[in-house]
Amino acid sequence: SHRILLGPLVAAIDQGTSSTRFLVFNSKTAELLSHHQVEIKQSFPKEGWVEEDPKEILQSVYECMERTCEKLTQLNIDISNIKAIGVTNQRETTLIWDKETGEPLYNAIVWLDLRTQSTVERLINQTPGRNKNHLKHKTGLPISTYFSAVKLRWLMDNVDEVRDAVVSHRAMFGTVDSWLIWCLTGGTSGGVHCTDVTNASRTMLFNIHTMDWDPELCKYFGVPMEILPRVRSCSEIYGLMKSGALSGIPISGCLGDQSAALVGQMCFQDGQAKNTYGTGCFMLRNTGVKPVMSDHGLLTTVAYKLGRDAPACYALEGSVAIAGAVVRWLQDNLGIIDSSDELEKLAASVGTSYGCYFVPAFSGLYAPYWEPSARGIICGLTQFTNKRHLAFAALEAVCFQTREILDAMNQDSGIPLTQLQVDGGMTSNKLLMQLQADILCIPVVKPSMPETTALGAAMAAGAAEGVSMWSLNPEDLSEVTSEKFEPQINPQESEFRYARWKKAVQRSMNWET
Ligand code: G3P
Repeated sequence: SHRILLGPLVAAIDQGTSSTRFLVFNSKTAELLSHHQVEIKQSFPKEGWVEEDPKEILQSVYECMERTCEKLTQLNIDISNIKAIGVTNQRETTLIWDKETGEPLYNAIVWLDLRTQSTVERLINQTPGRNKNHLKHKTGLPISTYFSAVKLRWLMDNVDEVRDAVVSHRAMFGTVDSWLIWCLTGGTSGGVHCTDVTNASRTMLFNIHTMDWDPELCKYFGVPMEILPRVRSCSEIYGLMKSGALSGIPISGCLGDQSAALVGQMCFQDGQAKNTYGTGCFMLRNTGVKPVMSDHGLLTTVAYKLGRDAPACYALEGSVAIAGAVVRWLQDNLGIIDSSDELEKLAASVGTSYGCYFVPAFSGLYAPYWEPSARGIICGLTQFTNKRHLAFAALEAVCFQTREILDAMNQDSGIPLTQLQVDGGMTSNKLLMQLQADILCIPVVKPSMPETTALGAAMAAGAAEGVSMWSLNPEDLSEVTSEKFEPQINPQESEFRYARWKKAVQRSMNWET
């Protein structure tokens, strides 16, 4: 039926922490026509270290593109209708490569990685008044292991190949977007070295007011500016695909995944917000053309700039490091489940954690605490506790962390959200969605089109090629209607559990010091 309405097609590469996807949408209806997904391996070479292989990341993109094109051909959809490709990606993850050979000089250091904890503590101790917000006036960010600059510093200090390449002017730095665009547009034979304002705003080297790399910040972290990519808007032609079935198609959209989800959820008005449950969990609230500084532990970040001459819009962000990652941990490390479906079933079979609280502070705690020395704890155990309660406590942890962020957002803006728009992989877990509504005491709304991150990047890409989707009505995006979860428990019960959670969080802090 959709063939009747088939307009130009727009596509997106969604390179997340746990998997890569390629998705193709009909620009007339935003219907997802076809996609393919490949898991990404993570390695943990030492405690607290998290790495990924840049070559594997690139290969996964090619594989997803090829398979998606095959699927489209099987559906009798001509791939020459694809007009533009957008890139959206896990943010902050840091790569460095040799521009002459095209070879990565080290693995990608993933955003969750904690190896820079001692550097971060030293930097904070050196600031007047031991202030982790020392650079916030320029960057919108606290000094933390999370952002790229400290990871890049670590690479220059600890990897000989990186140091040599920097000295001999062969080094290129980038986040995942830059690496992919450089490779896809030609790699060693003339690829484009660029990033977009949203990804740049997560490096700690970018001034969110001037919207450019900041010489003082670069000096502070000892980063030579010549290794940095050129900063572009989120919607313009960066280059053309160099090879493969999609050769010649422009790459014309680029946003960090959380920004892309904000766009895909059509949160274009000041005050609109979304929460995405991926490996981590990230709530962004659009604050319009003004950067708003948080008094409650949130980040100020660039939300999007949809075109070279378009204004930049900003967002307040609450970042939670561990959401979906806790599911993978229960599966891979404890072996108590075989899949995320099984987690939902286990948890649903008891419907309570029976007083068990699980703070998954595996990478320290992010917003609103920014405490790198926190570590995970499970508390409130009795002889009665079993893996079902633990499964429930893990889901509840995702909800409590979101509650903390929502409270901070509400306090910062003074205008409480009356419902929460959600998306991301974990939103297929109905128990989680119901629990989230119960713990927030406001309705949780899941949009009709769950692939909002990819949609946002595809929309940005399309716009630069004259395929505008801005006027699409979110209500018409698909035939499936959005789902709404209303709070079902009484607020006192919710407050009681939340207070317990906060007690557990206090116990997880300062573990390493
Ligand atoms: O800041 C990290 C974030 O961009 C990762 O997103 O979807 O891989 O959890 P995700």
